[in-house]
Amino acid sequence: MEQTKIFLNESEMPRQWYNLAADLPTPLQPPLGPDGKPVSPDMLAPVFPMNLIEQEVSAERWIDIPEEVLALLSKWRPSPLHRAYALEKALGTPAKIYYKNESVSPPGSHKPNTAVPQAWYNKQFGIKKLTTETGAGQWGSALAFACALVGLECKVYMVRISFDQKPFRKLMMQTWGATCIASPSSQTDPGRGILAKMPDTPGSLGIAISEAIWEAVMDKKAETRYSLGSVLNHVMLHQTIIGLEAKKQLEKAGVKKVDIVIGCAGGGSNFAGLSFPFVADKINGAKIDIIPVEPSSCPTMTKAPFVYDHGDTAKMTPLLPMYSLGHDFIPPPIHAGGLRYHGMAPLVSQAIVEGLLTPRAIHQLECYEAAVFFAKTEGIICAPETSHAIAAVIQEAKKAKEEGKEKVILFNMSGHGLMDLTGYEKFFAGQLVDYALPEEEIKKSLQAIEGLPKPSMAKTGKW
Ligand SMILES: Cc1ncc(COP(=O)(O)O)c(C=O)c1O
Repeated sequence: MEQTKIFLNESEMPRQWYNLAADLPTPLQPPLGPDGKPVSPDMLAPVFPMNLIEQEVSAERWIDIPEEVLALLSKWRPSPLHRAYALEKALGTPAKIYYKNESVSPPGSHKPNTAVPQAWYNKQFGIKKLTTETGAGQWGSALAFACALVGLECKVYMVRISFDQKPFRKLMMQTWGATCIASPSSQTDPGRGILAKMPDTPGSLGIAISEAIWEAVMDKKAETRYSLGSVLNHVMLHQTIIGLEAKKQLEKAGVKKVDIVIGCAGGGSNFAGLSFPFVADKINGAKIDIIPVEPSSCPTMTKAPFVYDHGDTAKMTPLLPMYSLGHDFIPPPIHAGGLRYHGMAPLVSQAIVEGLLTPRAIHQLECYEAAVFFAKTEGIICAPETSHAIAAVIQEAKKAKEEGKEKVILFNMSGHGLMDLTGYEKFFAGQLVDYALPEEEIKKSLQAIEGLPKPSMAKTGKW
């Protein structure tokens, strides 16, 4: 019988995370404060514990994974690497398609890979409660799960549109002991401000982040911190366990070279997690196409400029060097809630500036078609976010067929969609439409960053 899954056992789990910041040919530019000066670690201390801030600013290539964190991750890791034989056959492609199945975690996505270490480091630092935002609900449920494992209180601000579309995500968070409320809410200053101006807003990740940070910094006892599920350097770092495992599994499968690496990208974390160890290979001379995929309706990497911008709507975060549609941007309510973010991780953004990545935008309908095709061949009903990666895989597999090339394609199956079936229902009923964000709208939302400092676009020109 063909080997459709390649496993590692617990003792083969990577013992260190990989930090791309150590190897980027053009160094990462620092976050800036409101005065335009680099932010010092101390300035981040009311929001994050110092042990995570140290990881955030680290330039070390390898960072040890604590044994206790490994033990918690081993509840579902190492995740299997699948060979998509059925998908290949249905496409009639000579390409060999592999995917890392991150849907096997208890909350159903890659998000616990960072939720667990973040909760653990906060607990070590003496923190009692974490606040966060969630888009699709995957991150909120991952943090709720992680807080239950290490014994922390957890409060989740869920973007209004997802809160209404995904009631079961809220119940998952409740089961793990967390509180989940719709954002914008009347419980915080940023939420009240937005509601006064836009009472019917579908919400956005930018608004929910502002609310969660506000609650953390307002805690007079300083026992609450904020936790972010994507974008920041330490989140990308924790996710690299995906790509590091994948490398070992590909070696076991006898794959000598990967040609194409693909992941969907909202804030960039699952894409970074799979791809950064391969970006390192590319920096060292390997020829690999590395493709982050986003929705055409929220085209951060493919249409927005590389700028300094805030990570949230109320401008509570420092300025981060990233591709951004502007912190006021409220994306159209497409179903891939986790891809509705105005910015992109600074590490992913800098790798794009350097030319190491080739971002792609795909429309919603093509993504749902790909998701259904994948479900009928490989069996897994993927998250709407993940469908963007699958649509790009199908595009590449068809190209390989036209060219008659036996390419190896690796992608990240970032999560299952069993809590996201409302989107599928709307797709089957013909109620979903494609939406390309007009240039005018982009120009309008970019007004929010006028006058802010500009990051350098310098690159080595090697890629
Ligand atoms: C299943 C899944 N994939 C991808 C994403 C996008 O986030 P990121 O780009 O940080 O991986 C999300 C975000 O909620 C998600 O739930």
